[in-house]
Amino acid sequence: MSLHVPASKAERNGRRRTALPPVAAPFASSRALDAAEKRIEHELHERYPGADLAPVAEAYRFAREAHGPIHEPMCGSGRYLVPLLAQGLEISGSDTSSHMLAACARRAFSLGLDPELSQQAIEKLATAPAPRLIFIPSGSFGLLLDDAQVMAALRRVHHVLAPGGSFLVEAERLLPAPVETNGVWGGRWVERADGAKLLFSWLVQYSGAANVSTSLHRYELIEQGRLVATEFRDFRVRSYTEPEFRGLLQAAGFSQIEALKAYERRPLDADDDAIVFLARKT
Ligand SMILES: C[S@@+](CC[C@H](N)C(=O)[O-])C[C@H]1O[C@@H](n2cnc3c(N)ncnc32)[C@H](O)[C@@H]1O
Repeated sequence: MSLHVPASKAERNGRRRTALPPVAAPFASSRALDAAEKRIEHELHERYPGADLAPVAEAYRFAREAHGPIHEPMCGSGRYLVPLLAQGLEISGSDTSSHMLAACARRAFSLGLDPELSQQAIEKLATAPAPRLIFIPSGSFGLLLDDAQVMAALRRVHHVLAPGGSFLVEAERLLPAPVETNGVWGGRWVERADGAKLLFSWLVQYSGAANVSTSLHRYELIEQGRLVATEFRDFRVRSYTEPEFRGLLQAAGFSQIEALKAYERRPLDADDDAIVFLARKT
């Protein structure tokens, strides 16, 4: 069974789906792009029902402005990278997991695409040519828990970016009074076109540190009322206050740092549980 893995709190809470923005030259003709968008919709809805298109749409807008290569570290199975590649963007990806990279390649091949993927840790990232945009959507960056690893990753991203390039990264937000979810199962399901249901449930448990949440995710596939597959995954995700992450970005060399509401390019609301940072290498 291959199930979509929502990685962030915002996704668990069902962030509003965003339509892909209209696509314009120079990437492709409008007819070809209509077809590309249909393929993306098909890919996301058939294979990954409930997939969140907001980061794809936002990265796409930034990518168009970047006028150059894009790189997605921690790209996993490519649920963001592949749709962007299908839009004709020059995007490469990296991840430490050969299994995830193989899944990403398979997903791209099924759409007739051939992505440039490499197996590497973000802390030691090397890319050529230098990207104009590096982006890490969803909760992936929060998987780095250790202070030294976090700083090494941010410094490396800064190092490999082209001068004038941008870094777009989503961080889970540490709220002063987080909603108490300890010990309470949460869940939602999505229905596939064939009527099967994908049920996603989670249980959060106190990890001993206020800025690290530990959760158990359960994925179930239900066909004709019968449970046909179950998967469990553990997640430990680090969250940050806005000033804290801004300080880390500055320490890594970034400037012109903006903290935005997730994929809306406007200031944060007080209770937002995710922050999208946009930082520049000057
Ligand atoms: C939860 S998955 C999300 C993948 C993708 N960003 C998405 O949202 O669908 C996180 C990915 O980060 C990768 N990863 C974890 N630690 C990493 C590191 N230090 N450097 C590069 N990749 C890493 C994992 O192998 C995994 O594929």
